Amino acid sequence: MTRATLDKQPHEVASMFDDVAANYDLTNDVLSLGQDRRWRKEVAKAVDARPAQKVLDLAAGTATSSQPFARAGAYVVPCDFSLGMLRVGKKNHPWMPFTAGDGTKLPFRDDVFDAVTISFGLRNIQDTDQALREMYRVTKPGGRIVISEFSHATWAPFRTVYEEYLMRALPPVARAVSSNPDAYVYLAESIRSWPDQPTLAGMLQKAGWSKVAWRNLTGGIVALHRGFKA
Ligand SMILES: C[S@@+](CC[C@H](N)C(=O)[O-])C[C@H]1O[C@@H](n2cnc3c(N)ncnc32)[C@H](O)[C@@H]1O
Repeated sequence: MTRATLDKQPHEVASMFDDVAANYDLTNDVLSLGQDRRWRKEVAKAVDARPAQKVLDLAAGTATSSQPFARAGAYVVPCDFSLGMLRVGKKNHPWMPFTAGDGTKLPFRDDVFDAVTISFGLRNIQDTDQALREMYRVTKPGGRIVISEFSHATWAPFRTVYEEYLMRALPPVARAVSSNPDAYVYLAESIRSWPDQPTLAGMLQKAGWSKVAWRNLTGGIVALHRGFKA
């Protein structure tokens, strides 16, 4: 694979995730220094899935992000366009209704889900606005969206240290633990160029979502955005 660039075509993004699928969950744990587990607990609280509710976990990958909603008794549909990630997920969670689908053209009818959520995936979808509109379309009126995504640290000195970690420490660590280190260079670069918290909130509103709000985790390294379909 050539050097990671930010103008990846969707099929290149899918094949990049196919390549890292086997070690994806372990690499995540190592690179986030175990923080991903805490972030996932906060996402579960924000989604607040209830028994029998229908939840779409978009860009679910191996469905690690889907487990808290399933544990809460919801009917969770993990959807992703990397067959490699879906295969690893299906092996680990054979009972889940894994669905191959593109976030910009979801294979679901209008108004079907009580909640739609996406963890660390929106940044990878080439047309963010279209994905937000599609998530809106498949949500029931009164339903909610929760986005968990890497964001921008709010305290300037911390931001400097974190960006140093991302750009300098992360690629060598990734080279040691990942089957496709380029994917993690792409990760670092895509985090740096991702819109900040207020900008993403504005994009949600533009896609139709109302009562949009966000909460920072770990000083803004991750932000949870929430909205409702009126
Ligand atoms: C970093 S992984 C996140 C996986 C999982 N949500 C988690 O929290 O571990 C990002 C996922 O986004 C998926 N993805 C990227 N673009 C997509 C698109 N247009 N449609 C569906 N999935 C997409 C990738 O295949 C990958 O599995």
